[in-house]
Amino acid sequence: MTEYKHSLVNDGRGGQIPFPPFITQREMDLIANEFIVMDDDVFVVTFPRSGTTWMEQVIHLLLNNGEQGIKVLGDAVPWVETLPNRPQGFKEFLKGMSGRRFFTSHLPYSLMPGIRDSNAKYVYVVRNPKDVAVSTYYHDQSKHNYNGTWEDHFKLFIQGKIMFGSFFDHVLPWWEANKKSNNILFVKYEDMKRDLEEVIRTVADFLGIKADMELINIVLEKSSFGTMAADKKTNLNWVPQREGVPGHFRKGTVGDWRNHFTKEQNKAFDPLYLEKMSGTGLQFDFGDGLILP
Ligand code: A3P
Repeated sequence: MTEYKHSLVNDGRGGQIPFPPFITQREMDLIANEFIVMDDDVFVVTFPRSGTTWMEQVIHLLLNNGEQGIKVLGDAVPWVETLPNRPQGFKEFLKGMSGRRFFTSHLPYSLMPGIRDSNAKYVYVVRNPKDVAVSTYYHDQSKHNYNGTWEDHFKLFIQGKIMFGSFFDHVLPWWEANKKSNNILFVKYEDMKRDLEEVIRTVADFLGIKADMELINIVLEKSSFGTMAADKKTNLNWVPQREGVPGHFRKGTVGDWRNHFTKEQNKAFDPLYLEKMSGTGLQFDFGDGLILP
């Protein structure tokens, strides 16, 4: 089976997780030892391809009164895992941040800075795992030089061997922590698709930001798929990617898995999904009215 280049990082629970090669144990140790989280920090956290960039844009606009600003989104909302590799140095970079700090991350709950000992706010975005499986397949071709088939990538996905490991091992600890913490807000990608205005209001409330109708309308406009895909500050075209495969803004729909999953793949995935999800109270919308478990 084709795998792709990755590093292995201790997951804080006795195991190891595949991370992109530029995020190694060295970076994770520096983050654990040197990143001091402040009480008014904000984080968007996800398993990859669950709507990270979309939520980054929503919160970035809410924090900046609807202004996009001069930076590309990747600089305006620094990725925690890459902080140690900033050219000016980790601490210098953090010192240079102004205003309310806002970061993005794909870290599992067990490795998340500040989660147990600060009052920072964490917005965790989830998406139904079948659409995540499909979206990560295209993403890994585009950004991680994955050369294998969809069939092989699907197997890696259910074995928890893609970047950031098992979808379930990522989502479920965050979900359980969210039940007990006022500092975590769980948001579903499918709810953002269904009623983005409602999600924007919920996120603004959670972050203590007053959002009037004018600001909400700006956020709605500037965070639409079409606007973000067309704007060079938000379309992620600054990240190296492979020609000839879909880019970051691929489809942005719910239910594209139906165009990819074979009968056999559904047969392999569905019992695993039920085993992992039953009794958790977390449901996913798989599109066309299919809500499980
Ligand atoms: P698809 O591959 O299904 O199109 P992330 O930012 O976490 O990597 O997630 C990327 C996924 O979110 C992609 O899904 C992308 O198209 C989708 N996405 C990004 N911005 C979006 C938006 N404004 N509206 C809807 N979907 C969006």
